[in-house]
Amino acid sequence: MSKPKLALVQLAVGAKKAVNLANARSKVLEASKAGANMVVLPECFNSPYGTQYFAQYAEEVDSKRPSESLKALSAMAQESKVYLVGGSIPELEPDTGNLFNTCTVWGPDGLLLAKHRKVHLFDIDFPGKIVFKESEVLKPGNALTEFATPWGKFGLGICYDMRFPEMAMVAARRGCVGMIYPGAFNTTTGPLHWELLLRARAMDNQIFTAACSPARDLNATYQAWGHSTIVDPYARVLATTNEAENIVYSDLDMDLVDEVRRSVPINTQRRFDLYPDVAATGHTDE
Ligand SMILES: *[C@@H]1O[C@H](CO)[C@@H](O)[C@H](O)[C@H]1NC(C)=O
Ligand SMILES: *[C@@H]1O[C@H](CO)[C@@H](O)[C@H](O)[C@H]1NC(C)=O
Repeated sequence: MSKPKLALVQLAVGAKKAVNLANARSKVLEASKAGANMVVLPECFNSPYGTQYFAQYAEEVDSKRPSESLKALSAMAQESKVYLVGGSIPELEPDTGNLFNTCTVWGPDGLLLAKHRKVHLFDIDFPGKIVFKESEVLKPGNALTEFATPWGKFGLGICYDMRFPEMAMVAARRGCVGMIYPGAFNTTTGPLHWELLLRARAMDNQIFTAACSPARDLNATYQAWGHSTIVDPYARVLATTNEAENIVYSDLDMDLVDEVRRSVPINTQRRFDLYPDVAATGHTDE
């Protein structure tokens, strides 16, 4: 099958972890019944987004000792027989006490395929306006991550990782056909850059890109932009939505990757005698 159906679950996330996990399960099953082969959950899908919540909701990410959210994700993938990009959860590394913002990917057999720790932490400090410093509580991951599916390899990034074109470039040059970003932009950066970043990463690298946000919660301290979006290798928006809870679907015509590369062959015309090849240096997991 060269046209898998991708589904982005723009989940309404609340304060109760068990409710978030149950809602995620019902949405993943709904997507699978609608024909999805790959399903994506949003950044921080088991916990409200905010540095004050990370420690309280954190879990160990070790498939040999699966914690509550890992068990739920594995079961969801297996029950719905999909490739599941499990958004992200706050991860606790028991040996060090360090916290990470971590995405796990699951196969239709319920086995863990990959784990990505957000590598670029989001720190902003506008005096008198907004202070949000992930680095005060989180540690960054130190590896780029990709995972294999029957339709090709996909690279992973989380939210702010989207702003760093090198990550997507390295993935594409190493043969990935798409980048998947669980993310939660806010109501300022969302309208400015969310779609533009996805289209830019898709255009420069001639790959599919998709970003999955939580739904906006007007009572939350962090107002997510929503607008989960799927973009094709021509940088055309295939599917998107507003800020409410929803599932965004699109079939991915995998033949488009080769088609756009034949018509605009930038991938074979680079001048590494004039500038470096970023893919020659990046460190990749999996
Ligand atoms: C969203 O984040 C940006 C920085 O990335 C900040 O400038 C802006 O004030 C924030 N907007 C809201 C509504 O919090
Ligand atoms: C927001 O809070 C108000 C007042 O507590 C409540 O009535 C409303 O249902 C809440 N909305 C959401 C989306 O949780």
